[in-house]
Amino acid sequence: MTGDSITAPPQVSAPESADFLADVIAGLSSNPRTIPCKYFYDERGAALFQKICELPEYYVTRTEIDILDRHRADIASQLGPSVELIGLGTGAGTKTRILIEALENPAVYIPVDISENQLRQSTALFQKIFPDLEILPVCADYLQSVVLSSPRHKPARNIVYFPGSTIGNFEPDEAVQFLCRIANVCYADGGLLIGVDLKKNRQVLEAAYNDSASLTAQFNLNLLQRINRELGADFDLDQWRHRAIYNSNAGRIEMHLISESDQFVRLNAHKFHFRRGEKIITEYSYKYTPDEFAALAAKAGFNFVRMWTDDARLFGVFYFVTALE
Ligand code: AVJ
Repeated sequence: MTGDSITAPPQVSAPESADFLADVIAGLSSNPRTIPCKYFYDERGAALFQKICELPEYYVTRTEIDILDRHRADIASQLGPSVELIGLGTGAGTKTRILIEALENPAVYIPVDISENQLRQSTALFQKIFPDLEILPVCADYLQSVVLSSPRHKPARNIVYFPGSTIGNFEPDEAVQFLCRIANVCYADGGLLIGVDLKKNRQVLEAAYNDSASLTAQFNLNLLQRINRELGADFDLDQWRHRAIYNSNAGRIEMHLISESDQFVRLNAHKFHFRRGEKIITEYSYKYTPDEFAALAAKAGFNFVRMWTDDARLFGVFYFVTALE
């Protein structure tokens, strides 16, 4: 995302998929083997993720919504009146709706999401429930540069909203770089409201990513189905198994796909060999203590203001501001 040139009509078409093949080939050729987690979210993946959010073991979404709900007035008064809210990966918009309802006279809402369907649906819904709000949707991979539209309304300040603990998908040094780019979007006297999953015991974490209904397994394996479907690979789905482990040294959940046999997989001119038990890493989900996360954001120039949390301190909603100039 760029903070400099921000004049363009609203973008509502999905980003190019030409990089998918190159990213998969590079990831499967590396050691350890990886596939970028942003490719989870095709139509089926996005639907599976929504179901994951309702699982009893997956406390993340439910807890973040509860925190927003309980502290909405307090959060809104911290953010202040007439803001431009830039939502990154806001999906169906459940959390953003709670936030916007609580805000005093919000000026502009710019949802940025990779899922075209969800973006269209949530924009239509928000136009109905917030008729006075200027909404400028952008369908884009916010990991890449994004050109934001210039609003007709002049906001008091820019607030970036990054819910869902998606920041946990970055390695910590990449997270700092990403927050630096967010700081450029905020300009001076801007704010960042960000949801972050907190460190907790291994049992709770591993249960959240190895649910008993196996939805997370389906979500993980869908990546291979998507590669078969869109790129013409021949992954045999019966020969792969989902596993999520908490790597406590690194402070992260790791999502793995494990090869159940010694096998070959074809993709274009490439033929990849997998040993039995060999893994493909499909996602990191970093967990932070409140102090760790405040220190990380400080490296990107953000000053910690407050964190709202639940009684069990499972999840944190952090508010940071940039310097006045
Ligand atoms: C959307 C990145 C926050 O890390 O908890 C859920 C994705 N992966 N179950 C997470 C996910 C497996 C999720 N984030």
